Amino acid sequence: MSQLKPAFKFQDNHPPVSDFEQEVLAGLRATPKTLPPKFFYDEVGSGLFDAICRTPEYYPTRTESAIIRDNVQAIARCLGRGCLLVEPGSGNSAKVRDLLAALEPHSYMPMDISKAFLQKEARKLADEFPWLDVYAVCSDFTVSMDIPIHPEGVHRVAFFPGSSIGNFEPADAAAFMVNIRDMVGDDGGLLIGVDMKKDAGILNAAYNDASGVTAAFNLNLLTRINSELGADFDLDAFAHHAFYNEHLGRIEMHLKSLKAQTVHVAGQPVSFAEGETIHTENSYKYSREEFAELAARAGFRLDACWQDADGLFSLFYFAAE
Ligand code: AVJ
Repeated sequence: MSQLKPAFKFQDNHPPVSDFEQEVLAGLRATPKTLPPKFFYDEVGSGLFDAICRTPEYYPTRTESAIIRDNVQAIARCLGRGCLLVEPGSGNSAKVRDLLAALEPHSYMPMDISKAFLQKEARKLADEFPWLDVYAVCSDFTVSMDIPIHPEGVHRVAFFPGSSIGNFEPADAAAFMVNIRDMVGDDGGLLIGVDMKKDAGILNAAYNDASGVTAAFNLNLLTRINSELGADFDLDAFAHHAFYNEHLGRIEMHLKSLKAQTVHVAGQPVSFAEGETIHTENSYKYSREEFAELAARAGFRLDACWQDADGLFSLFYFAAE
């Protein structure tokens, strides 16, 4: 019997909410001081990230989108039509829109930690693609990859664009891909966007855009701590500091204290030496071979790799093996 109306379903896996105050204090008490990049993305921070993606220096977003659009038929052939397409950390589902018409998946499963945002974005996407079944799942994909439906005879493909994988330590990236591998099963796959190792000048420019948007994005973390935890960070006494650590193959972002100072966070004193930093983000870069090797450790075989002409960014398709 043919289906008259595409389905829209929402499942809440009740992801544990992170304790902002406790995690911030723990990070600021550690040596060296550190704060997790997931805290960048309050409303202002998410807007600043979108603005980063529009700066001329930040090539990853537009390069990946062009790779998808230029190769969409080949990508669809490779993944196979009629899959269950699962996107962990789907956000506003921007990239998947370029894929859906050609891929004709059986259904799309956006997965995000932010419930209200996910509900709104999934509904919007379902309205735009009226032929598509959409099953939104509210969960923290770093905690659980449980999915609500496993329709019979439908192969599962995970979609992880944006080089979000770069935020993981390499060992954690491999562990995450093991979870993906378990979720997609023996006939599944993984379509993943990865930023490539390249000339340090290009990388340093991408994280130090001339208009200062990346600096504002980094410093917004302190603004957020000031407003949500009643802290007294002086924004003029800290500076954005981002550089390519060639030895470790990663961009590091820090907030550097421009003087010796004591800041109060949730009533607790936190002291900084002049030049001391809070390490706010790592963004790992890989060669093709390095990334294929990492994925192989997680049980994935390299099936295809699409790149831009300059080899700045790669879109990999791995099949379960
Ligand atoms: C969203 C993690 C892919 O690492 O390039 C951009 C975040 N930070 N500019 C990246 C980011 C500063 C971005 N990811």
